[in-house]
Amino acid sequence: MPVEANGQPARSDADGAAIRVAAAGDVHCSEANREQTAAAFAEIDGTVGLILLAGDLTTHGEPDQAAVLADACRPLETPVVAVLGNHDWHADRRDELVGVLEDAGVCVLDPGHTIVRVDGIEVGVVGAKGYVGGFPGSHIPDFGEPSTRALYAEAGREVDAIEDGLRAIAACPLRIVVMHYAPTAETLKGEPESIWAFLGTDRLAAPLVAHQPDLVVHGHAHAGTFEGRVASVPVFNVSVPVMRRDFWTFELTCARPRTSAIH
Ligand SMILES: [Fe+2]
Ligand SMILES: [Fe+2]
Repeated sequence: MPVEANGQPARSDADGAAIRVAAAGDVHCSEANREQTAAAFAEIDGTVGLILLAGDLTTHGEPDQAAVLADACRPLETPVVAVLGNHDWHADRRDELVGVLEDAGVCVLDPGHTIVRVDGIEVGVVGAKGYVGGFPGSHIPDFGEPSTRALYAEAGREVDAIEDGLRAIAACPLRIVVMHYAPTAETLKGEPESIWAFLGTDRLAAPLVAHQPDLVVHGHAHAGTFEGRVASVPVFNVSVPVMRRDFWTFELTCARPRTSAIH
């Protein structure tokens, strides 16, 4: 169960070990925020066991914009796991952008999963960009023009990737999902309802309901709401403009600390 840590040290009590995870979305790096980005990452480094970035890492997807984030992440001792956002695709230089980040040690899940050992606990992280698609009453249908059906199919591939990732990390004592688009409308409140279909889709919620990860974070909805839920799964919109801070720190308590058979 994640709890806002508010800068307090992680607890370790009868309920099990606790780890601290920092998350942020929509950092939108470019030369214009180089100093601010470097300072924010340097400040959070070492205070948490893991840093999660929920997409829109750059302003327009240019590799030199990714280099600003890469330069901020390269000296960190804390592992960084990221997904891409729509802005990171705009220049259509996805592979170059990912290469720049990976060269700095950032784990980019586009989509995929990884297992990070934090304070002796195996933390499984599933990452996917997600995609548009809408919510009850505004779903983009799998019908009609090939371009509409292709869009529907692309969202379906993201859903399948999250499902596959959650299966792969099923044995991890702590499981986190990072995406860019929203899996629930609860965290979109504040955005005009007329654009919700472009901010996410509840199709992304299906694997969350099925596998019940401990924490889900997303970004993209800059004017949305911080906290929501899919069934009993806590979902947070960690978009920087929503949080009004560089990172949010979550404390995750592991009821029964153990290691998984997956390495
Ligand atoms: Fe954004
Ligand atoms: Fe976005």
